[in-house]
Amino acid sequence: MRILSGVQPSGRLHLGNYFGAIRQFVQLQNEGEALYFIANLHSLTTVQNPDRLREFTLDAALTYLAFGVDPKRAILFRQSDVPEHSELFWILGSLVPLSHLERAHSYKDKVAQGIRADFGLFAYPILMAADILLYDTDLVPVGKDQKQHVEFARDWAIKFNQTFGEKYDPADPNGEKSGRPGLLRVPEPRIESETATILGADGRKMSKSYDNTIELFAPDNVLKKTIMGIKTDSTSVEDPKPTEGNALHSLLEVLASPSDFAEIDRSWRAGGSGYGVYKLRLLELFHATFDGARERRRELEKDPAAVEAILLDGAMRARAIAAPLVDRVKRATGLK
Ligand code: ADP
Ligand code: TRP
Repeated sequence: MRILSGVQPSGRLHLGNYFGAIRQFVQLQNEGEALYFIANLHSLTTVQNPDRLREFTLDAALTYLAFGVDPKRAILFRQSDVPEHSELFWILGSLVPLSHLERAHSYKDKVAQGIRADFGLFAYPILMAADILLYDTDLVPVGKDQKQHVEFARDWAIKFNQTFGEKYDPADPNGEKSGRPGLLRVPEPRIESETATILGADGRKMSKSYDNTIELFAPDNVLKKTIMGIKTDSTSVEDPKPTEGNALHSLLEVLASPSDFAEIDRSWRAGGSGYGVYKLRLLELFHATFDGARERRRELEKDPAAVEAILLDGAMRARAIAAPLVDRVKRATGLK
């Protein structure tokens, strides 16, 4: 089984990225051949400062490694080091109806938020589909927000296979019954449903774009300030605290073990402790959960050349899969 996923280096990674993405990556590397990449071509639509883009790219690589993505097992690489991503992007884009891109949630949401739309943002689902289809991917672990993009990749793979393959049956997309798979393998999304959306310090979805994140590798003093600054209401110390939409309560739930959380939740609902007590508890849980990775990252940071070597080796291994696929695609389409 082949597994592929990526994260954009568009800012420093946070708790939401860990529970929504990275934790699955580490688990899945033991279940098949995994490819994890840093989607820097995607980030170019938002990060247009070269030093920042390089810094965030290194940050993403350090994060993967610190949490235990094992470069001996998984292929870890930087998207722009594998030019086949851009090549397949164009070829695939030649078959994509504009109407599909117009109904992409991520595009519509960003435009609704007043973010200026450029071609890169509009075409982003095609690049993401190319990322996936380039490696005969079976499984794509992503958060809920990315589900539609994986569905597009499926639709366009099927369309490509119908257009350029003989006797391809879209009802049997990978040819399991007929023994006639198409040129592009049709992938499945793996959506992590257990971890609902992680809330940020202001109670909205935690996101780099909302400036409400708890960064995984923030220095201790910044971390403490962020956690002590989580928005709470004016419920007094003695009173039971509300749970609905409460960021502090939901963060305690994801970080504490089920039995610890049961005890925290009991006292929360009973009243008698102020929010400050729970914030300190959260800080303690954060350290207990992430200090191992934080320490590993400090070690890895000392040797950026070693990280670079891992990425270049990953790109070479990735290209060994991607280049023959693009070659087959070129022959099938008449480009070769
Ligand atoms: P951001 O919203 O901070 O820009 P990305 O869109 O780069 O995050 O997301 C990278 C990965 O992390 C995706 O798989 C996404 O589903 C997951 N993710 C991001 N924020 C959260 C969150 N608040 N809760 C759960 N998963 C999240
Ligand atoms: N679009 C994804 C995100 O913002 C990142 C990404 C790019 C990706 N290409 C991918 C994820 C291919 C999975 C597969 O989170």
